[in-house]
Amino acid sequence: MSQPSEHPTYNYLVVKQFSVMTVIWGIVGMAVGVLIAAQLVWPALNFETPWLTFSRLRPLHTNAVIFAFGGSALFATSFYVVQRTCQVRLISDFWASFVFWGWQLVILLAAISLPLGYTTSKEYAELEWPIDILITIVWLAYAYVFFGTIAKRKTSHIYVANWFFAAFILTVAVLHVVNSAQVPVYWGKSYSAYAGATDAMIQWWYGHNAVGFFLTAGFLGIMYYFVPKQAERPVYSYRLSIVHFWALIAVYIWAGPHHLHYTALPDWAQSLGMVMSLILLAPSWGGMINGMMTLSGAWHKLRTDPILRFLVVSLSFYGMSTFEGPMMSIKTVNALSHYTDWTIGHVHSGALGWVAMISIGAVYHLLPIMFGKKQMYSVSLINAHFWLSTIGTVLYIASMWVNGILQGLMWRAYNTDGTLTYSFVQSVEASGPGYIVRLIGGGMFLLGMLLMAYNMWQTARTSETESGVNNLETAEAA
Ligand code: HEM
Ligand code: HEM
Repeated sequence: MSQPSEHPTYNYLVVKQFSVMTVIWGIVGMAVGVLIAAQLVWPALNFETPWLTFSRLRPLHTNAVIFAFGGSALFATSFYVVQRTCQVRLISDFWASFVFWGWQLVILLAAISLPLGYTTSKEYAELEWPIDILITIVWLAYAYVFFGTIAKRKTSHIYVANWFFAAFILTVAVLHVVNSAQVPVYWGKSYSAYAGATDAMIQWWYGHNAVGFFLTAGFLGIMYYFVPKQAERPVYSYRLSIVHFWALIAVYIWAGPHHLHYTALPDWAQSLGMVMSLILLAPSWGGMINGMMTLSGAWHKLRTDPILRFLVVSLSFYGMSTFEGPMMSIKTVNALSHYTDWTIGHVHSGALGWVAMISIGAVYHLLPIMFGKKQMYSVSLINAHFWLSTIGTVLYIASMWVNGILQGLMWRAYNTDGTLTYSFVQSVEASGPGYIVRLIGGGMFLLGMLLMAYNMWQTARTSETESGVNNLETAEAA
């Protein structure tokens, strides 16, 4: 695919493999997202085929975007950052390669089993027990490679990005093992080891912390390395980053019950979840501000560097979604937002605006280094990608806000005689235009990813002389 770019000191092969797969899985996962968004506009698009129904493709979408796309971005960046900041090669090339191929196998098994209807029906933990065991083995190998590399570092201190990656790796291990405790019936079916409200609480302790540690802590690790690198400025405040780290991990773990407001969960637990979610605003914004302020004195770079734009706009969406989340955790607000598209909008302001955009920025930074080039093949294509992503995300979340509030208000409207003013079907009909706008926004985001794949392909195959913008890292890496 390209000239050999293996670094004499560092293991770049695994970083390159995961970077390329980030783009590929991003396209696959988002294409499924666009398909299910289209099914909500035209239900006939399930073609009356069981494995193409919304119910089976939705978990395929969430698993593909979170674990295949997001996961690949996290593996690529953490393996890169830990080597650069510890100034040593990964502890084992074999186990790094095992992590790559093992994770691809997990994804493949998910892509087969979910459309066939095999599911534990636990959200974001749908995969059946044999795949859960494989995930555990791959994760242990990942932990060995990451922590083993830290242990043999040549630097005296551990750079803060690694702290976030470390918290992500440890917490996800605990979450996965505890939430996946199940009683197997046969290889394709199991039942949760927990029952009733306990099962629900464990599930949402897992679900919320999957957001907090998979979709947030790891990506903050990305922020702490790639924002300063791309801006060529030191991180704004190292002290704030340490306070940010400890406050974030101490508070996140308590906020899960906000997913279970007005359920059989004891009321005190719901209130605790709400209060912890409100407190969570502070560390979240502390981190966001630390990232943003790193640009002090470098704001002008945003005019010319679309990669930096991806990184900075992702931080704005992070700030927005971590303001919206605490608001939605307030019981009275949740009474309106829960079950509506408002939640879906919140999810994607975090998922598209924050997770996807910071991953895209980091992968654009990595790709030329991995392919031994000075820069990406086309900066104008990165720019076009940036605008497609930003406008696409705004269309997605704005349409879901409108739909969400519309649905919430229609469902709670009563006539004077106590009967409901609107039937459920009327609320579905009223949501139609919002679903079309969401489809357009999602389509734009996907189109941007296709441009990225083309740009990546051209970067890999074109010769050095055809490149243009400088990338300081490349000189070092070559
Ligand atoms: C082209 C981009 C995307 C499109 C069109 C899209 C579309 C959708 C649709 C239609 C749903 C189902 C909503 C419903 O049940 O009413 C959904 C759910 C979801 N998507 Fe996406 N999505 C995209 C990208 C992403 C990305 C990049 C992520 C994560 C990194 C993500 C994470 C999720 C999650 C977590 C849910 C479940 C939300 C919930 O249960 O509340 N999506 N998406
Ligand atoms: C301070 C930070 C945050 C808080 C307090 C928070 C709070 C909330 C609340 C209250 C809900 C609605 C629960 C419900 O009614 O069912 C929710 C849903 C969700 N949030 Fe957040 N949020 C935060 C940040 C984020 C971020 C940054 C992301 C993504 C990267 C995210 C992803 C999600 C997902 C995927 C769901 C849907 C879960 C489901 O029902 O399937 N959140 N969040």
